[in-house]
Amino acid sequence: MSHTVYLNGQFLPYEQATIPVEDRSFLFADGIYEVIRVYGGRPFGMEPHLKRLARSAREIHLPEPDLAELARVSLELIAANSLTEATIYIQVSRGSYNPRNHAFPTSEPAPAVLVIARPYVGNPKLHETGVKAITTADQRWARCDIKSVALLPNILAKQKAAEAGAYEAILIKDGYAIEGSSSNFMAVIDGEIRTYPQCNYILGGITRDMVLDLARQLGYTVREAGIPADALDRCSEAWVTSTTSEVMPVIEIDGKPVGNGRPGPVAAALSEAYTKLSQR
Ligand SMILES: Cc1ncc(COP(=O)(O)O)c(C=O)c1O
Repeated sequence: MSHTVYLNGQFLPYEQATIPVEDRSFLFADGIYEVIRVYGGRPFGMEPHLKRLARSAREIHLPEPDLAELARVSLELIAANSLTEATIYIQVSRGSYNPRNHAFPTSEPAPAVLVIARPYVGNPKLHETGVKAITTADQRWARCDIKSVALLPNILAKQKAAEAGAYEAILIKDGYAIEGSSSNFMAVIDGEIRTYPQCNYILGGITRDMVLDLARQLGYTVREAGIPADALDRCSEAWVTSTTSEVMPVIEIDGKPVGNGRPGPVAAALSEAYTKLSQR
């Protein structure tokens, strides 16, 4: 059976879902996106994800997407593709216009809206073993709070990690470990959980917010403050958070063990609490 996707108001077989060659997301990376995880056939955190999509749209001056419609479409794609463990990818581009021009088109806006739901096959073993990370300079722009499809610096950082046999690249900005190439970064240092404060230099992760709430509920001290890159070797634990990575323990950074080189108790407690929340 063909994979059904949604494009501009229509449910279509995957092969028939095409966009014009001058779509601005293709020419300029002029678009925004979201990734939502589906557990047991149910989307998790749909509301905050759609809210963030609406915010990203506002910030790049796109008309607000119809969030109720996107929620309905997402559920329909899960059903149409008989999915249980899955991800939903939503992308809104400024649409297709010619001739090519950097400035926004003056004609009627025609955003292109794409929704794809796919089976998700993670590797649960990684949560038990933990993963390696590298650090690398953050080469992104000053609006990382917008979930833009312009991901080239993130891609290059992730590729550098992959080539080093690591799972994630931790981005260093002005001497601080601020987030991962596709995740937020947290660590235990001086007895408290620390993570970079939400601002224009990081993406306000939906998982980050949930995990910080859980950490406070579990009685941990949380401080939203930067972790200096030169203090990474003093962290007793570290992990990254994201929709697909969930709470992923980091056991080695740049070849040096984090703490005792094994996933630690705080990451384990948060991971368990997050799993419970997502299965609820
Ligand atoms: C740069 C960056 N930071 C953080 C995250 C984590 O965000 P979320 O928890 O909403 O998936 C992502 C996810 O793609 C990301 O790309």
